[in-house]
Amino acid sequence: MAIQNMIGAPVTGENFYGREIELRNAHRYLNERQSLLLSAPRRIGKSSMAKRLINDKTDEGWKCVYVDLQGIATKETFLYKLIDAFTGVGIMDKAGTKALNVFGKALNFVNGINLGDQKLELNDQALTEALFNRLSGIFDHSKDTLIVIDELPLFLSKLMDENGKNRNEIEFLLNWFRSIRQNENSHIRWLFCGSVGLRNFTNHYAMSQSINDLVDFELGELPPEEAKGLIEALAKSYKLSIDKALIDEILDQLQWPIPYFIQLLIDRLILKIPNPQTRPVTHEDIEEAITALSKSDKFITWSERLAEYRNLKSMAQSVLDHLSVTDDSQTKDDLLKIVMKNQDPTLIEEVKEKITIVLEMLEHDGYLIRSDKYRKFRSPLLRRWWANKFID
Ligand SMILES: Nc1ncnc2c1ncn2[C@@H]1O[C@H](COP(=O)(O)OP(=O)(O)OP(=O)(O)O)[C@@H](O)[C@H]1O
Ligand SMILES: [Mg+2]
Repeated sequence: MAIQNMIGAPVTGENFYGREIELRNAHRYLNERQSLLLSAPRRIGKSSMAKRLINDKTDEGWKCVYVDLQGIATKETFLYKLIDAFTGVGIMDKAGTKALNVFGKALNFVNGINLGDQKLELNDQALTEALFNRLSGIFDHSKDTLIVIDELPLFLSKLMDENGKNRNEIEFLLNWFRSIRQNENSHIRWLFCGSVGLRNFTNHYAMSQSINDLVDFELGELPPEEAKGLIEALAKSYKLSIDKALIDEILDQLQWPIPYFIQLLIDRLILKIPNPQTRPVTHEDIEEAITALSKSDKFITWSERLAEYRNLKSMAQSVLDHLSVTDDSQTKDDLLKIVMKNQDPTLIEEVKEKITIVLEMLEHDGYLIRSDKYRKFRSPLLRRWWANKFID
């Protein structure tokens, strides 16, 4: 079956394209019994990668489980989600499965129950810890197993309230995961994914030792050959005829060839050209597709995501607003001047500290690219969208 144009959900099976180097490295680490931390920008393809690894490892006979924490905001639903995912996939030993039943009852847990009906509230820290410790004792460490926990940092940052009141609970959860990983001779491997930087988070709250055994696994743009290959494969599926020079032009326009942007662009071309057999793609089609995307709602997640910057959100917004309409790259000092406008000048040192953090976060999250001391939008497409949405 030919590759399909997919925009949004994680891709699986034939629709997963490329990532050969990343797959090779991920398999090597997992085979060497290392656990991984995949912290990379939004929409880069983390969940697709995780699902592909699950698929590959299931084919090799491993036990695999995928836990998605998107939308989870309390430790009760987190626990529920874990138990639900671990039940019936063979990663608990026999005693564990029995214990789970007891455990499930303690949680008012009935298979298939709607999360909204969840009764339990773990107000008592001692009870929570007892339940988690019970759960950690029932893993079967003797079988090759891959457990993916997607969007863990997003969940943790939701759980942490503004004043860091839940810090200890979060440290407990991270140490709980760590203690399972530390089990001697364990065949369980973990892959934690997320677009919020888990290391920034644990450094900030002084709990970095809880994840210091994880290998950082990187996922970025596609290398040029894979980016071209994805365009060609999608074009072939939809009978679009794009000559090689135009493919180079697409890559030139995108500058940051992540699969999602390629899929969005191809989607526009498919919509624009209903009779591709008789009408090849032109330079104007590409220009129009890019313009249409820069006015679409396809990048709204990049703006919504700034909510996770909490008290740094308005500073991040000012930096991005400014960069979206400035042709030159900007230094930290240039940007400091922008955010200091309308501020009390005596706050400069405090603001300087904050802008350092904001710029690092924006770079980590794929909004900005830094070359020497200059910053600019990583993707010209995102930049045009930003200016169109917030400035023009
Ligand atoms: N290997 C791939 N082959 C083809 N398309 C891909 C691939 N990886 C990602 N995509 C494209 O990117 C989109 C987003 O992928 P995915 O959901 O895996 O990203 P993500 O990093 O988990 O995103 P989020 O941060 O929103 O959770 C997919 O819908 C698809 O269009
Ligand atoms: Mg995802």
